[in-house]
Amino acid sequence: MDTNVQKRRENKKSLRVKVISLGNAEVGKSCIIKRYCEKRFVPKYLATIGIDYGVTKVQVRDREIKVNIFDMAGHPFFYEVRNEFYKDSQGVILVYDVGLRESFDALDSWLTEMKQEMGSQANMENIIFVVCANKVDLTKRRVVDESEGKLWAESRGFHYFETSAQSGEGINEMFQAFFSSITDMCENGGKKPTSEVNVGFTKEQADTIRRIRNSKDSWDMLGVKPGATREEVNKAYRKLAVLLHPDKCVAPGSEDAFKAVVNARTSLLKNIN
Ligand code: GTP
Ligand code: MG
Repeated sequence: MDTNVQKRRENKKSLRVKVISLGNAEVGKSCIIKRYCEKRFVPKYLATIGIDYGVTKVQVRDREIKVNIFDMAGHPFFYEVRNEFYKDSQGVILVYDVGLRESFDALDSWLTEMKQEMGSQANMENIIFVVCANKVDLTKRRVVDESEGKLWAESRGFHYFETSAQSGEGINEMFQAFFSSITDMCENGGKKPTSEVNVGFTKEQADTIRRIRNSKDSWDMLGVKPGATREEVNKAYRKLAVLLHPDKCVAPGSEDAFKAVVNARTSLLKNIN
């Protein structure tokens, strides 16, 4: 074969991408990357100083992907170092520790920091995000459950994986899905394909599940005032049942939210004449 033709074909098949890791200090970003690239786990905590850089090659279908990984330091102290590295990323690995609620709550502020640093160039739409609910091996100390994490991720069109850098659970699956989505996006001219964008449930459904989860009592759960009448309770119940019925709603946590609403209605009606 003509060497130029061969070269062109090879060029088409190879791809270069940039990914970054984000999340609070000590959630396991570096360990997740190490588990994937070096197949090992280091129990001792060695804080990333500013940023760590590494390159790995992966195969997605008929393409060889050269991945530049920028592993960010989560400590606020290193903000000045990492802020340079947000730009031109095709993929982001967002990590939290399932045993530390504040690391889950911080995900929004990581997105905010990223948006801010990308400035006018900011187009978060065409970046693949994967959320790692990490340290799932430490089951006893878990405080953020799967449906809560999944809901946060999927309502934003992000992938969600339960991972353990210690045992290796979910790590290869997560990276495979991540690189495959990035490749799909690159082959689609740098735009997220519609299959990535479709969430499958509405923002109203996601917000309602979150609200139910955080409600303080049965009145609050149904969204009625304490002392509401039977009609008011039933009306609120019907509205929520239509929105959250597991046959109609695929949002993570909808089944539990629906059950909680049924129970709340039953207990309220018992005490209303
Ligand atoms: P910074 O670099 O400071 O932002 O932290 P990081 O997010 O890179 O955390 P790192 O990967 O260094 O891990 C922090 C600590 O958590 C280390 O002691 C790891 O051994 C431990 N660790 C990481 N992942 C897991 C996991 O899946 N399970 C358990 N049990 N421990 C983990
Ligand atoms: Mg690190």
